[in-house]
Amino acid sequence: MHEPATKPIMPKLPGPARLLHGGDYNPDQWLDSPDVLAQDIELMKKAGVNCVSLGIFAWAKLEPEESRYDLDWMAAIIDNLYDNGIYTILATPSGAKPNWLAHRYTEVCRVNRDGQRELPGERHNHCFTSPVYREKTRAINTVLAKRFADHPGVILWHLSNEYNGECYCSQCVDAFRLWLREKYGTMEKLNHQWWSAFWSHTITDWNQIYPPVPYGEKNVHALTLDWKRFVTHQTVDFMRQEIDALRAVCPDMPVTTNLMGFYPGLNYFKFKDDLDIVSWDNYPQWHTGDDVETAMVTAMAHDLMRSIKGEPFLLMESTPSMTNWQPFSKLKRPGMHMLSSMQAIAHGSNSVQYFQWRKSRGSSEKFHGAVVDHCGHGNTRVFRDVAELGSRMADLGFVADTAVRPDVAILYDWENRWAIDNARGPRNSGMHYVETVTDHYRPLWEMGINADIVDMECDLSRYKLVIAPMLYMYRAGIEQKLKDFVSGGGTLVGTYWSGVVNENDLCFLGGFPGGGMDEVFGIWAEEIDSLPDGQTNALVLESDRSVRYPVSELCELIHTRGAQVYATYERDFYAGMPVVTQNSYGNGEAWYLAAKADPAFLREFYRKLALARGITMAIDADLPHGVVASLRKGTSDLVFLQNYNNQDAIIMLPTTMKNMETGEAERTPVLGPYELMILEL
Ligand code: GLA
Ligand code: ZN
Repeated sequence: MHEPATKPIMPKLPGPARLLHGGDYNPDQWLDSPDVLAQDIELMKKAGVNCVSLGIFAWAKLEPEESRYDLDWMAAIIDNLYDNGIYTILATPSGAKPNWLAHRYTEVCRVNRDGQRELPGERHNHCFTSPVYREKTRAINTVLAKRFADHPGVILWHLSNEYNGECYCSQCVDAFRLWLREKYGTMEKLNHQWWSAFWSHTITDWNQIYPPVPYGEKNVHALTLDWKRFVTHQTVDFMRQEIDALRAVCPDMPVTTNLMGFYPGLNYFKFKDDLDIVSWDNYPQWHTGDDVETAMVTAMAHDLMRSIKGEPFLLMESTPSMTNWQPFSKLKRPGMHMLSSMQAIAHGSNSVQYFQWRKSRGSSEKFHGAVVDHCGHGNTRVFRDVAELGSRMADLGFVADTAVRPDVAILYDWENRWAIDNARGPRNSGMHYVETVTDHYRPLWEMGINADIVDMECDLSRYKLVIAPMLYMYRAGIEQKLKDFVSGGGTLVGTYWSGVVNENDLCFLGGFPGGGMDEVFGIWAEEIDSLPDGQTNALVLESDRSVRYPVSELCELIHTRGAQVYATYERDFYAGMPVVTQNSYGNGEAWYLAAKADPAFLREFYRKLALARGITMAIDADLPHGVVASLRKGTSDLVFLQNYNNQDAIIMLPTTMKNMETGEAERTPVLGPYELMILEL
């Protein structure tokens, strides 16, 4: 049985260079070119690379035929890297299976949603249930651990690669049925929670249950939700057996796996107990839209990834120049490589790693950006950008002694997302849950207020402000947590479409929000109006009826039960009904926003709330548009000032602050286009 790690472990490099800089290194593609491998080391040193991720897709080179292992080439690479001061994050190779394996054991190949078994090829497409695949990964992981775990250059396990997707084979379906039996115990309970009497879908034998597929059941909401939960469960279970194989040999080496931000398919919070460190792959589409908006969305993804464990994380992949899979593969404009990389550090990363070190010569990623291009030398713009960052990071070792510690949490919950998106309801053209969470994040980011992005299973007690947009589903005892939080003096902001269903998507009876949260908000919600795109209503402030802000998409019709009315609807048959309310509950307060408010309102709303509740801002200054600040606290408190404008910005600091890199005192610094400055608070 796998024991979850008790304390977070972050690999730190000895000496002053304590942040990791490097990336995916795939020498297995170049083993017949020793000159290339020798040049890699020279160029890595020039680029300030101190750490690579090795062997992510090397299974076929490590086990060229079944049970015949060839690890000598990898040993030579790791030795050579180490001799040159470069550490290794060592991958388990399960992200892509060798052709001999897929060819011999068909069961390792996934069955897709249409019921078709996939042929060998591609990657990230193995069955997580298959006993054969589990056994083969266990075997290769064991061999790797025995050979390399004691190597002083190997600092961390990189489990597989971007676990994702789902399999519909009969072994997965059986495992799903078993999971449901364990969850519900009896068929009566399942039938009740799934409300399966509807359309005569009562289950009378566990074997009557199938996953939701296009040619089968799609409309039992609780079934779809349980399937998604099962996919996460099975993925984590597969990951855990990978970890178990490693831990059996080397119990102390920390493990990570590279996650994908807001990827919809997995509840990443369920990974937190098994991973020692969270790492993730970040590919913003700079310069294709509004860079400030792109920066905000990226910041939120970093915050989500950090919040999974509440500790510093690693940026495991990013592109040094362009991708080859986005609709437009735009080059990063001068300065953006530095800023985008430092943004990760500002939000709690202790690394900047790339995909990949050297551009592949052939196959599907031959045009994906890499540190070393096909030209084969370091005299390129991209290489110089990387080297400049490497040399800057080498002097930022002190940053590793700090971490992001916000006063504010935004609740974002994957299971809530699945439930909202799957339910046929008021707005089948888009409920926009993630976008709404983003709307509440934006004003905080603009004001330099750090926020954690947590789910319903997380602890809320250390925050001053908890924002819970569209908390449609209540699960994991969230009602009690929120009651304790507010009565203990916290400030809660909730919105329309909250407390509608229980954890299995069964509606609360007796009025929304359910679970007793109507008392906390001091309101009850009777109906919800859905406005087509382009139609709006408005909210009018009670304190000054000349001040109005548009509302759109969803407008809930609520009644107060003790709450103060802060704003009312302007138009339609519900004109004059409350739309923003405030309620005292215990020592705290709970706000309810009954309609989707526009960004201008949320900006004003959170500015006032932050002031009233003493929420920490990175710096107390009015920053120009596109300039933001975020804070890492520790031995010194570091403010990361970032300019996402392609032009100079003048900053009026509230007081003189020390520039941590130049040592100079700053009062009205000018940040150039895409420039970043680290100041001591
Ligand atoms: C993902 C994968 C990498 C590579 C990059 C390309 O993040 O993990 O192997 O394919 O995308 O952007
Ligand atoms: Zn399967």
